[in-house]
Amino acid sequence: MIHIPKAEYTRRRKALMAQMEPNSIAILPAAAVAIRNRDVEHVYRQDSDFQYLSGFPEPEAVIVLMPGRQHGEYVLFCRERNAERELWDGLRAGTEGAIRDFGADDAFPITDIDDILPGLIEGRDRVYSAMGSNAEFDRHVMEWINVIRSKAHLGAQPPNEFVALDHLLHDMRLYKSAAEVRVMREAARISCAAHVRAMQASRAGLHEFSLEAELDYEFRKGGAKMPAYGSIVAAGRNSCILHYQQNDAVLKDGDLVLIDAGCEIDCYASDITRTWPVNGKFSPEQKAIYEIVLASQEAAFKQIAPNKHWNQAHEATVQVITAGLVKLGLLQGDVDELIASEAYRAFYMHRAGHWLGMDVHDVGEYKVGGEWRVLEVGMALTVEPGIYISPDNQTVAKKWRGIGVRIEDDVVVTKQGCEILTGGVPKTVAEIEALMAAAR
Ligand code: GLY
Ligand code: MN
Ligand code: MN
Repeated sequence: MIHIPKAEYTRRRKALMAQMEPNSIAILPAAAVAIRNRDVEHVYRQDSDFQYLSGFPEPEAVIVLMPGRQHGEYVLFCRERNAERELWDGLRAGTEGAIRDFGADDAFPITDIDDILPGLIEGRDRVYSAMGSNAEFDRHVMEWINVIRSKAHLGAQPPNEFVALDHLLHDMRLYKSAAEVRVMREAARISCAAHVRAMQASRAGLHEFSLEAELDYEFRKGGAKMPAYGSIVAAGRNSCILHYQQNDAVLKDGDLVLIDAGCEIDCYASDITRTWPVNGKFSPEQKAIYEIVLASQEAAFKQIAPNKHWNQAHEATVQVITAGLVKLGLLQGDVDELIASEAYRAFYMHRAGHWLGMDVHDVGEYKVGGEWRVLEVGMALTVEPGIYISPDNQTVAKKWRGIGVRIEDDVVVTKQGCEILTGGVPKTVAEIEALMAAAR
């Protein structure tokens, strides 16, 4: 299995600690277990920031980073080994495993954190944490601080600055290393295979969930624990619902089906959309819309390179989509004026993409100092233009209504431009029709 190597977690912790102010401490909690219903839990997914710094896959754990501390800069609180719990729920690293396998300098049982952590915080000037994103953890931090305050008469020094960790950490996460790109390529490769399989299986009379099952099969067979987000399998008019999740309608002859789905490998997402005809052959109207979306995506790729700014790709899609809609008579007027008045938003109401990484909508600022961010090598993003003609749009001829098309690929900015990670699924009309014809 392709995964992030242990040395990279060490490098990340060092890089973060190098940016922290002197005499400070960073504290990050693992994701909590979420109850699905009664005795059933949701599949556990580690918190992305926690995972990024540790690779430690268990709940009930806390990372503590103390740059410059002589007795070890990286302390991990985690669950202890427990023969009975491990018999029921699976193995735990325990404090020994945290040191041996996960590079902690020191590890303590999570049950001892209230006794130990105030002592580690005491005397440090600043505390870095993800303030505001986890109310329960914020409360714990304040309790630990109050323990120190209560000992002020004994000379204990509580920290006097609290700093949001997100800015430093999320900027690091925005730039993908070679190892991260390798993992993202693997997630993309498996997701491409899933889309190909769903295309080949597409038949009128099946349900949307039948195609979802084809996706899930490839995801799991490829080693993905789960999809990176709820798969969207939207046939016919459902393709005009941007975050459709019901996935239970029948696939009808003559309709399109839009699938937006990608798996997650070692906590890195892929995010692919393809749209194809259920019966394997585009109608003239479907093809006309499809060709515009495809051309807009190609125009966007040309705007992704170092020194181009974040919005240039979006602007390229708006230009091509607006001109295309005018050409088909779906919008009337001057292209520049229709762009200025955002008339295209009746058909294209989302942006051309987002950062991609451990979170499908990944962290990282889109603007810096009020200006669109300039792209740099290693940034990963999606390119996903679409046209959605509402089934209820009375301003267009009936033949266009209910057509929804999105095409989405994942790219990484390179020195020359960008690398498309998700090129392994057919995308042109001819390629899609050929693949589907061969599967019939
Ligand atoms: N799958 C969600 C998105 O494309 O942003
Ligand atoms: Mn996306
Ligand atoms: Mn998507």
